[in-house]
Amino acid sequence: SDRKPTIGGNWKMNLHTGDAKALAVGLAEAVKTDAVDVTVFPAFPYLAMVAGVFCDAGSQIKVGAQDFYHQANGAYTGEVSLSMLKDVGVATVLVGHSERRHVIGETDVLINEKVLAALEAGFEVVLAIGEKLEQREAGQTDFINYAQMCYGLAGVSAEQMSKVTIAYEPVWAIGTGKTASPEDAQAAHAAIRGCLSGIYPGTDVYATTRIQYGGSMKPANAGELLAQPDIDGGLIGGASLKVEDFNGIITAAQ
Ligand code: G3H
Repeated sequence: SDRKPTIGGNWKMNLHTGDAKALAVGLAEAVKTDAVDVTVFPAFPYLAMVAGVFCDAGSQIKVGAQDFYHQANGAYTGEVSLSMLKDVGVATVLVGHSERRHVIGETDVLINEKVLAALEAGFEVVLAIGEKLEQREAGQTDFINYAQMCYGLAGVSAEQMSKVTIAYEPVWAIGTGKTASPEDAQAAHAAIRGCLSGIYPGTDVYATTRIQYGGSMKPANAGELLAQPDIDGGLIGGASLKVEDFNGIITAAQ
C-alpha cells in the first residue's frame, strides 16, 4: 500500500533512568531508516530525557506519551496535560490502551474526550482498540472494534483523521506470548478498515489511515504479520525494551 509503516514501542511501566537512557541511545544508533515511522512511549518521568537523547543524536525517532489528561490545567491531582507534554518535546499520544481501559478503568467517554483534546492541540493520536478473549470466542471481535472506534472517534473529522493511527490489540494477545495468526489479524484489520469507510463515507480515510497490530509481536513473527495487506505496522510492548528486538521489528517493517 501507499501507507508508510509505523512502529511504536510502548515501554509501559518499565525501565528507570539508566536503562531508559541506554535503550534510547542504542535505538538512536541502530535505527537509521526513513522508510518507517518509529515512536517510543516512555513513562512520564523519562519523556524529556528520551526526547533529549533523540534530539542530540539527530534521530528521527519520535517520543510519545502513554497517557495524559484532557483538561488544560487546574486541580487535577496526579495528571499531566497536553501542553506539559508539548513543553518537553512530545507530539504523539497513546489513547485507549487496553491496560488503561481494563486495568485502570477508563471509559469510552473519557477516551473520546482525550482523542478530541489531543487532536485539537495538534497531537498525533494512536487510538488503541481490541477485543477480550471471551468477546472473540463469542464472535464479537468486529463488533467490539467497531464500537470502540465509533465511541473513540465521535466528533473527529475526516481531516483530523490524518493525525490518527489505529492500534488493533487483541487483549488476549498482549503480553501473553499468544499472537493473533496473520490470517486472523488481517481479517480484523480489514474489518476495521471497513468500519472506517462506514464512519467516514465518501472519503479516503479508510485507505489512508494506518492500522497497527499489537500483541506479542516480536522479530520472529513480525514479518508475516506486517506482510498482510491491511497491517501497517506494530505497537510493541515487551519486545520494544531491547534494541535488537525492537530494531528487528523495524527492519521487518521496511
Ligand atoms: O502496547 C503494546 C501492546 O500492549 C503489546 O504488548 O508486545 O508486550 O504483547 P506486548
